[in-house]
Parts: sequence; C-alpha cells; structure tokens
Amino acid sequence: MSVDFQSWASGCQARIETFLDARLPASDCVPVRLHKAMRYSVLGGGKRVRPLLSFAAGELAAADVERVTVAAAAVELIHAYSLVHDDLPCMDDDVLRRGKPTCHIEFDEATALLTGDSLQTLAFELLAEKRLADTPQAQLEMITQLALASGSRGMAGGQAFDLDSVGKMLSLPELEFMHIHKTGALIRAAVMLGARCSSRLDDEQLSKLDHFAKCVGLAFQVVDDLLDAEATTATLGKTAGKDAENNKPTYVSILGISQARELAEKLQHDADQALDGFGEAAARLRQVTDFIIKRKF
Ligand code: IPE
Ligand code: IPE
Ligand code: MG
Ligand code: MG
Ligand code: MG
Repeated sequence: MSVDFQSWASGCQARIETFLDARLPASDCVPVRLHKAMRYSVLGGGKRVRPLLSFAAGELAAADVERVTVAAAAVELIHAYSLVHDDLPCMDDDVLRRGKPTCHIEFDEATALLTGDSLQTLAFELLAEKRLADTPQAQLEMITQLALASGSRGMAGGQAFDLDSVGKMLSLPELEFMHIHKTGALIRAAVMLGARCSSRLDDEQLSKLDHFAKCVGLAFQVVDDLLDAEATTATLGKTAGKDAENNKPTYVSILGISQARELAEKLQHDADQALDGFGEAAARLRQVTDFIIKRKF
C-alpha cells in the first residue's frame, strides 16, 4: 500500500465525483428544475464513505476499478436519495445538509420528492447498463442486493421504524434493528457490491466480509448519533442536536455518550477481527473503518 489513506481517499472521492457529474443529467436538460435539484443533492458534498468502502472492498477482491466506480456511484445515489427524503418536513424536517439548504428548502417539497425518486432509479440504471461482474448471474445478484438493501426490508424499512419510534423508549435489540436497517443495510451493500465486481473471493471470504460490513454499518450510525449530540452544526454541516429535538431514540439517548462511544469502539474491534485472514489486502478496509469511527463530522 504505497499511498497514504488521505491521498487514497481523495483520489476515490475525485473519481466518484467525476463519474457522478458525468452521469447525472445536465442542469440545462428538461425538466431543468428536477435535474438541477438532483445535481444539487449529489455533487460537491458528503464524505463519500460508502464509495470509499466499495473501493476498499474492490481492492481486497482485486476488482476492476471501472466496475467498482459504477457500483460505488449506484450506492451513493441511493444514499443521496435517502438524505433528500430524510430531510423532508414529513420525516426529520431539516433545513441544512452538507453545509447547504436541504433540497426541499432550496427547491420545493415536490421537487425533493421527485429528486429522491429519480436518484433511486438512476442508481439501478447504472447497475444494469454495463458489465459489472464476471457473469450475468453475479450482476443480477448485485442488483438484487442493492434493491433489498434500499427497500422496505432495508433502508426504507429502517426509516419507517425510525419514524414509528419517535418518543418511544426502545430496547437495545429494537434500536439495533432500526440502525442496522436504516443505515447498516446500505453500508453492507457498498462493501459487498465492491467485492462482487470480481469473482476472486469465495463464499467463506464473502461471508467474512459481510460480517465486517454489518459491524461497520451499525458502528456508522452509533457514531452519527454521537456526533448529533456532541458536535456543532458548523462542523457537521447539518443541524446538531436534532435527534433530541425530534425526540428520537438513539444510542446516546438510551446508553449515554460514554457507553455509546465504547460500543462504537467494540464494533470497530469486531469489524477488524472479521478481516483476520485477509492480511495486507484488507488494510484499506481497516483504514476506512478507522475513519468512520474517529470522524468529527
Ligand atoms: C448521514 O450519512 C446519514 C446517515 C445514514 C447516518 P453520512 O454521514 O454518510 O452523510 P454524507 O454523505 O457524508 O453527507
Ligand atoms: C438517516 O439517519 C438515515 C438515512 C438517511 C437512511 P439520520 O436521520 O440520523 O441521518 P442525519 O443525521 O439526518 O444525517
Ligand atoms: Mg432520520
Ligand atoms: Mg435525519
Ligand atoms: Mg443522525
């Protein structure tokens, strides 16, 4: 691994930005308002953590980077759609995202709704249009995996559980269920789609990688809960303290700051352990995990 993490991550972020910029319809293409809103919601912001995970998993599996870029972009589009909808008044009612007014504030609610819809279908368009795996069967499985991760048994289901939990005191298993779905499912898909762009990993290796991804996915949302409570709006680029304001059960409201932090670290340990046996090839995945746990925004 010749390149340090920061340079590697910047390279991946630039690669995904260029690809998304080229694949999102131009802002002068009709319907102009919708296409402007799509570009506004996807480009020029975000940590691109899911693509980083796809690229790192792709490196582990020695996958073709052009293929991984497409898979990573598809996951990022689903993520961007989930944020646009998450911020709507009928959900978290947020006005700031990635340091800018949220999509429905900058445009309007109907446009934000359609932006989410259109980003979601663009993700599947990308996954279906070019060869991304060694066999058509493997590619179909990738498409199915992203669909499951995004829908009612994945992210959207987790969001439904989240909305249904407002003002409730959840048990730890319930809280874990919510987080694994609303955030974990897509993170898991990011890792697995990256790896599945090649057929080099066997079933046992894929299952270890999947366990890694589950731990990281949960850890990601535990840290998101911590940052909501501890960081500032200026650092986060989204309104801090929103979970308490919206009366959401989180790892902070249920476990408290220090136990939530311990849980994130324990999950990092479990994630690292799942990579035992991959050796140096998993170094990037460990670095991305470390970034996810230690991030300040
Ligand atoms: C925020 O995700 C929403 C969650 C799923 C917790 P990120 O923290 O990855 O947001 P961006 O993409 O960097 O803005
Ligand atoms: C969002 O969780 C999860 C999805 C968008 C699917 P949050 O509601 O905690 O995300 P933020 O804090 O608004 O980014
Ligand atoms: Mg939410
Ligand atoms: Mg939110
Ligand atoms: Mg949050």
